Amino acid sequence: MGEMVSYGVSGGIAEVVIDNPPVNAASHGVRAGLASALARFEGDAEAGALIIRCAGRTFVAGADIKEFGKPMADPQLPDLLKRFDAAIKPIVAAVHGMVLGGGFELALACHYRIADARARFGFPEVRLGLLPGAGGTQRVPRLAGLQIAIDMITGGGQIGAEAAKQAGLVDMVTDGDLADAARGFARDLVAAGKGARSAADLSMPADDPALFDAARKSVARKMRGQTAPLKALEAIRLGYEGGPFDQALDREYALCREMVTGSQSRALRHIFAAEREVAKVPGLSADTTARMVETAGVIGLGVMGRGIVMALAAATVPVIAVALDQAHLDAAMKAIRDTWAGQVAKGSLTQAEMDARLARITGTVEPARLVDADLVIEAVSEDIERKQAVFATLGSVTKPGTILASNTSFLDIDTLADASGRAADVCGMHFFNPAHIMRLLENVRTTRIAPDAVATIMAFGKRIGKLAVLSGVCDGFIVNRMLSKRSREAFFLVEEGASPSVIDKVVLDYGFPMGPLALGDLAGLDIQAAARKSRAAKATPRELRADFVEQMVAAGRLGQKSGSGWYVYDEKRKSSSNPETDALVSAHAKRHGLALREIGADEIRERLLYAMVNEGARLLDEGVAPRPHDIDIAMVNGLGWPAYTGGPMFWADQIGLATVLATIERFRKEQGDAYWTPSPLLARLAGEGRGFYA
Ligand code: 3HC
Repeated sequence: MGEMVSYGVSGGIAEVVIDNPPVNAASHGVRAGLASALARFEGDAEAGALIIRCAGRTFVAGADIKEFGKPMADPQLPDLLKRFDAAIKPIVAAVHGMVLGGGFELALACHYRIADARARFGFPEVRLGLLPGAGGTQRVPRLAGLQIAIDMITGGGQIGAEAAKQAGLVDMVTDGDLADAARGFARDLVAAGKGARSAADLSMPADDPALFDAARKSVARKMRGQTAPLKALEAIRLGYEGGPFDQALDREYALCREMVTGSQSRALRHIFAAEREVAKVPGLSADTTARMVETAGVIGLGVMGRGIVMALAAATVPVIAVALDQAHLDAAMKAIRDTWAGQVAKGSLTQAEMDARLARITGTVEPARLVDADLVIEAVSEDIERKQAVFATLGSVTKPGTILASNTSFLDIDTLADASGRAADVCGMHFFNPAHIMRLLENVRTTRIAPDAVATIMAFGKRIGKLAVLSGVCDGFIVNRMLSKRSREAFFLVEEGASPSVIDKVVLDYGFPMGPLALGDLAGLDIQAAARKSRAAKATPRELRADFVEQMVAAGRLGQKSGSGWYVYDEKRKSSSNPETDALVSAHAKRHGLALREIGADEIRERLLYAMVNEGARLLDEGVAPRPHDIDIAMVNGLGWPAYTGGPMFWADQIGLATVLATIERFRKEQGDAYWTPSPLLARLAGEGRGFYA
């Protein structure tokens, strides 16, 4: 038996303990260890029942993701679990922590399940582009019915121990000592003469084709473009169409294996690993400790400031919220209360939790109150002089060592560091709107920041439930800088004759939640026009000429909020094409003597997306993004780049950088050096036959 699995017998009950840190993944050593333990139990006359449990912080959290894509050594998990079905003495799973994927399947193949009250259960396979491959799609419907099976397996979410018991997936929940409770449970089984039992012996619930139809439609909408949830539904149907139980299990595993090698699963596994990689900050020595943040401050309570206050208070951080004046403070507190009251009305938040969050917020108009804060996030309007003044104030009113972070989305934070007089404490913490919902946080490492301040903002991001990536200082940081290249290309495409709806459809079909022009309408064309104005001094004549947003703003068309922008919107904000946009584009072409042409979907997609890949390569070249992982994670979580393509840099690697480069060179000939000069890094890697990752 491998050392990952131990076997012992006491008082007539055998006990297997799995110990494979950090998450007890069902690696080869665990599977082999379980196979020998099972054989030993079956031949052990002294043992009347077997308990399977785990050491450490969790039960088995799934198959070992690191083994995917390599030849999988025997025993395979489904074969091993079939042996559990066949065992004649009872087996009890005693589970705690995260009971996920193959770990949940292991528990389900045991004959009884007892759970720690805090245990969480789920099938995250679809998030990795997979489906449960070791009996999950067959055992859950038999134990808990179709609706629960479909929801859990296609949704990838989790349920708690009580809910699992209600569903029939767990026999007993304990908030006492799990191992003791399991021993008592097993002894009672033996005393009562209760033997083995297997979900394999249960029948499938009555078929319900309408439920499957509804589920297919729902996942096609909610998880657009993803193959795994639809395949998972097919796998559940094997319970009706896949032959006897063992045969259905074999076919389920075959489907899962097929998906492991598919492009979506490879991309989603890359995203899983990259999310963990971005938490590791390059260039920080192992002994760098984060500063303590007990109380945070937010100064500036516009839309972003309020969202940040809500994010902090929801994450149990006491917040000092500083507004410009009493009227702004009252408006901000009202908006915060209204948002949470809306959630209480919908049932997604309790009144008690809302009250607790409000109690964590101290509203004030006195910046001096920030003396009690350990970290202050500035969120005043995007005006460099205004921000410099705020940083000068923050430098004087806060304690030495208080971290001063700007939420700017493009201004130069190094100049704010100068204004504060405390450069080692100054950084960026760029939240995305709505800040209390969006998961991404771009932490910006200024040139003179102290290493422990960097460690602090990364740890703090995690503490408030955000996915923090690190960016260097530059105009737009990672997401907005890359996005600006897509927007520019979208405007050029409109100038050349592509209609906004065609451009947006190409982007939607690729997998983004929204196209670039619809996104402009949502964000507000006035905001986009203001951003263009602030960059006008550095813009090329062609960029200045493609002034569609300025033209629309001048005509009072601000996007969704005014009912008209690139599109027109009805009172339910449903969009349709806008005749005024067509007229505007034709008049623009006439005025500037431009010939309009038909542009194919491939060209539209490549120009919009390769422009971002090329900019991503520049970010790497300049060291703004430390690794391609940071770019992929930022774009997936900040812009909705479809995770199942792996993000821009991973996607470009799959296409092959030589192909990407050749297309960019073609665009360069057609469109000019100013827009399509390949990044030196991209050119070099392509020349060496390499990718961004390898
Ligand atoms: N296999 C291998 N390594 C894993 C793993 C897994 N299933 N799950 C987590 N790890 C590793 C992580 O990569 C990380 O490694 P690192 O320290 O080198 O970066 C380490 O364990 C700790 O993980 P986290 O940082 O994510 O720790 P958290 O405490 O934040 O989260 C968790 C724990 C909720 C278990 C989370 O890691 C998770 O969601 N893991 C994936 C679970 C999963 O997807 N299981 C299904 C696998 S597919 C399957 O089972 C197929 C089956 O049906 C046949």
